Amino acid sequence: MTSPETGLVPVVHTVADLRAQVSAWKSEGLRVGLVPTMGALHHGHLSLVDAIAGHVDRVVVSIFVNPTQFGEGEDLDKYPRQMEADRKALSDTPASLIFAPTVEEMYPGGFASTVSVKGVTEGFEGALRPGHFDGVATIVTKLLMQCGPDVAIFGEKDYQQLAVIRRFVADLDIPVEILGGALIREPDGLAASSRNAYLSEDERRVAGRFNVILKDLVTAVEAGKDLRTAEAEAGKKLIEAGFDTVDYVSIVDPDSLAPLESHDRAARVLAVARLGGVRLLDNMAIGAP
Ligand code: PAF
Repeated sequence: MTSPETGLVPVVHTVADLRAQVSAWKSEGLRVGLVPTMGALHHGHLSLVDAIAGHVDRVVVSIFVNPTQFGEGEDLDKYPRQMEADRKALSDTPASLIFAPTVEEMYPGGFASTVSVKGVTEGFEGALRPGHFDGVATIVTKLLMQCGPDVAIFGEKDYQQLAVIRRFVADLDIPVEILGGALIREPDGLAASSRNAYLSEDERRVAGRFNVILKDLVTAVEAGKDLRTAEAEAGKKLIEAGFDTVDYVSIVDPDSLAPLESHDRAARVLAVARLGGVRLLDNMAIGAP
């Protein structure tokens, strides 16, 4: 819903203004959806806005580069910030409001609380990026409490993040329905990500091999290949394709994310490989045997 004067989606910067707008909508009986983002919006984010719009009457998109989910030496400072471009991108979507708080609004002086989730955070990104999921769980809890949406949506691209969010929303009885948005891919199959913008032309070509190698793994596992062999072969193929290192290729239970010993149920492959200093994440469903 764009403003008639500017043709752009209105922006609020404070929790008070966000709450005033959401409670006005709720008093009219409207259902509200929230799409949390860190901006640098690409078609993966826009697909989340479209997907949630089918479930609600008004869509809030939050844009906040959350410092507490970045570790030391990560890309907090260079993370792309492009508010005007993001606003323009949202003007062709069903977004009704942008919530773009400052760091001080979200973490005022004296802030001292953390939402911390056990179990599902412990492997993969949680193991490699200490503190990352505490930062995500804390900011997402705050956004849900500030906005009070009926529904919120998160991309399946960050598969472990989605599992963590489902866990604490259930554990903390937060009254919101969580939707998973399908992973959106570029034409060559690379998972859409704001960090793809960091890749050089050559690296971008190599990156396009990631999904092909994972698809081969899925086909091989569904045809009966041993899981550890399939993971090891995919890792080797990624290095041969030009990736610098592979953080993990792991076949896991799709809900608990516990690594599987055998293909005895539907599963998920989670993978992260590094290229030119960029960590690329991908994941795919593996059908039940
Ligand atoms: O997925 C993201 O962009 C972020 O982790 C999120 C959920 C917006 C929290 O900062």
